Order: sequence, then C-alpha cells, then structure tokens
Amino acid sequence: MSDELDRRFKAAKHIVHKAAEIALELRPSPGGPQGSLKHVQDWVTAADSKIESFISQEIKDLFPEDGFQGEEKGETRTGSLRWVVDPIDGTSNYARGRDRWCLSLALMHNDEPLLGIIEAPCTQEFYTARLGHGAFLNNAPISVSDVKDPKISMIELGWSHVSVKEEFLYYADKILSTGAMIRTIGSGTLSLVDVATGRLDGHFEMKINLWDVAAALVLLKEAGAVVSPFLKTGGLYKPTPILASSPGLAKLLSDITHLPLDG
Ligand code: IPD
Ligand code: CA
Repeated sequence: MSDELDRRFKAAKHIVHKAAEIALELRPSPGGPQGSLKHVQDWVTAADSKIESFISQEIKDLFPEDGFQGEEKGETRTGSLRWVVDPIDGTSNYARGRDRWCLSLALMHNDEPLLGIIEAPCTQEFYTARLGHGAFLNNAPISVSDVKDPKISMIELGWSHVSVKEEFLYYADKILSTGAMIRTIGSGTLSLVDVATGRLDGHFEMKINLWDVAAALVLLKEAGAVVSPFLKTGGLYKPTPILASSPGLAKLLSDITHLPLDG
C-alpha cells in the first residue's frame, strides 16, 4: 500500500499543478460573474467541467483501477481507492476574476481520506498532506493556531444557498457574541485549510459537500485541528455540517454549533 500511495501522491501533485495552469488561463477577468447558475447564487463556469475532465482522464491513464468522483459529474468510476475532486472551489470568486479559489484533490481508501492536494494558483500556495506524514504549505510544515481567547480569534462561517438564512444569522450572532471576528469569503476548502495553517481559528458551515472537504480533512488532521465527525454523520453522501477548530477553541465552538468533536 505504501508504494501505491507514494506513486499516487507524486502523480497527483503533478496533475493538480497542470490543472491549476489551465484554471489560471481560463479565469475570467475582473468584473461581473461569467458563468451560469446551477441554483441561486451557485455558479459554474466553463472551467469547472474542463478541469474535472482533465484530472479524471489523467488519473484514468495512470490508475485505471481507481474510483473517481467529482463535483460536476458525480462518481464516474468505482474502486476501493477513490479520488475525490473539486475542480474549482470558490467558483463564485473565480467567476468574477477574484483570487480566492482553489483546486482540491483527495484520495480515499474506502471511506478514509489518505491524501490531500490543494492548490490556490493566485497566491501560489500548494498544500499537501498524507495521513501520518504531516501537512505542508509549499513544502513547509503547517499547524493550527494556539489561540484560546475568543476575543482575539477569527472564525469563518461558511455560507451557501443550501443553508438557511435564519440559522446563519443565529450562528453569526452566537459567534460574534464570544468576541470573535468573523469571515465569509466563499471557498470552504480554503477556509478549512486556513484552520490547518493557523490563519483562522475555526470554520463552521451548516451544509457542505464531500468534494469541498475531503482533501482538507487530511490537512486538518495532520496539522492538529479538531474536527466534527463529518464523514460519519452523512458527509459521504449529502451536504452535512462541519466544524474545524484549533484545539484551544474547540469546546466553545462545539457548544455553540451543537456539533460533537472527533478528536
Ligand atoms: C462552495 C464554496 C463555498 C461553500 C459551499 C461550497 P463551490 O463550493 O466552497 O464557500 O460555502 O458550501 O459548495 O461551489 O465554490 O465549488
Ligand atoms: Ca466546492
């Protein structure tokens, strides 16, 4: 298994780099959104499916026995090793020529994420993690923040059209009442990754999908974050709540969000 994972990790990094170049070339210029709506405020651009198809084909050429699941086309191949891709996370930002978006590729063994590769091309940030081997940003090790006092904390509260406005406002009020500063910047993947690097102290979202979080989960685990049991509570199949936190604020955020913690 170790050799198989080595080969896949190396190949996946290369494939994500190539896909990131395509994404940058296709990125719309700054301005109003260029793309189409899947649902209310849920954008898709021409690049999303192109990049997913590109990654799918590259993986198929190298590892035809592996399963493959993407945001745009669903599960197109099955296998005990399964790649999970979000071709562009933060599409609403990408569609307006903004910088905060990324590509996310995970490898899962059955239902456990083992590898996570995330690239944010506009900031030239490349995140990698392999279960049991640490998490890295541009090859330098990363770890969560040591913030314990909510009054100096920064928490992201993710928002998408599937969330309920009244619930969002309830949680925003609860989190702000602790003295925390909040953010909502439109890429769930990068926000989770920010928790892994210590740039944020927590991320909470009421409903998020597997492809948004699969790669980030490996980074979070390796960086020392405390995460709610997303995969065990429906995240493999449907939009599910997630809380990821630095250890110092985990209990407080768990109480506020009513989400248990995995460790
Ligand atoms: C969305 C973004 C957003 C999050 C949503 C995701 P997309 O993914 O990560 O920040 O709030 O839950 O669906 O549509 O940009 O790939
Ligand atoms: Ca996404």
